[in-house]
Amino acid sequence: MPVILAIESSCDETSVAICNNGKITANVIANQTIHENYGGVIPELASRVHQQNIVPVIQQALIDANVDKKELNAVAFTRGPGLLGSLLVGVSFAKSFALALDLPLVAVNHMHAHILAHFIDEPKPAFPFLCLTVSGGHTQIVLVKDYFDMEIVGETLDDAAGEAFDKTAKILNLPYPGGPLIDKHAKLGNPLAFKFPEPQIKDLNYSFSGLKTAILYFIRKQEKENPDFISEHLNDICASVQYSIVHILLNKLRKAAKQYGIKEIAIAGGVSANSGLREALQKRAEESGWNVYIPAFEYCTDNAAMIAIAGYQKYLNGDFVEQDVAPISRMNF
Ligand code: KG4
Ligand code: ZN
Repeated sequence: MPVILAIESSCDETSVAICNNGKITANVIANQTIHENYGGVIPELASRVHQQNIVPVIQQALIDANVDKKELNAVAFTRGPGLLGSLLVGVSFAKSFALALDLPLVAVNHMHAHILAHFIDEPKPAFPFLCLTVSGGHTQIVLVKDYFDMEIVGETLDDAAGEAFDKTAKILNLPYPGGPLIDKHAKLGNPLAFKFPEPQIKDLNYSFSGLKTAILYFIRKQEKENPDFISEHLNDICASVQYSIVHILLNKLRKAAKQYGIKEIAIAGGVSANSGLREALQKRAEESGWNVYIPAFEYCTDNAAMIAIAGYQKYLNGDFVEQDVAPISRMNF
């Protein structure tokens, strides 16, 4: 049955996974630490590191899955959205690899794949379900009617939730990506120590740029009185910021669940690794009678296993692309 090799290179993780008849048998992720001191991903550096990592990561995935190149049936890859230079490395490699081995190519939308990561392990959500997809570049509430029949019913009008975490971290002089560090400090702080305003945005949409500005002004004001404010209150600041972001995210998700009458609720994307979001969602599930689906940590942030599982579904549908395919940085949903 189909053995699919999948490549993810949309941002700063070079990842290769292998899916053997619907089961993930390898998921190798090479993280790029080079961006830590820049406060964000530097696209040109990211492309270069992908170029260095792609072959060793492929080789490791084949070893982990105990598969020979000749046993592969298809090559799946992230076509977009993402950084063009980063995508180009993965797409070009996928095409050359497929050409050399005479294999069909499967193009995957990275945002679909974050959602389809829920079909890697049990329990799997039942269609239709709502998925809050929260990453470094996106914040969307998606109505998922089928594997590739998805509709965005709400999204951010400015910053993504991951950006809100990362930009706050930058204000607090924490290295990139700041989300996991805020999460770590938040565990030791009081979430109600400081209060930040909740944006009043219509419908099921989000906005996080106002929160970032409110945090910046708050910190500046406090630092005027106490230059050591950040270091003395880091855990409380992180806990309070995280509390605000989680509440903004979940309030709209609750509204969407009510509006669509859906109790199958999932989260996906890098920010779904956040412990505050995971806990609050579990709590809300108990209150609202939701069935919640939270991905394993390794499938929250960027990984090729999610590309492989999406690629597997496309393979079953006979949905292939030709060798003239190109990456799309701002790929439509
Ligand atoms: O999905 P992802 O790996 O990449 C994109 O497609 O953007 O998401 C990365 C984002 C970053 O903003 C990172 O700070 C955030 O996910 N993130 C977290 C946590 N782990 C990753 N944010 C909050 N808490 C976490 N534990
Ligand atoms: Zn992502």
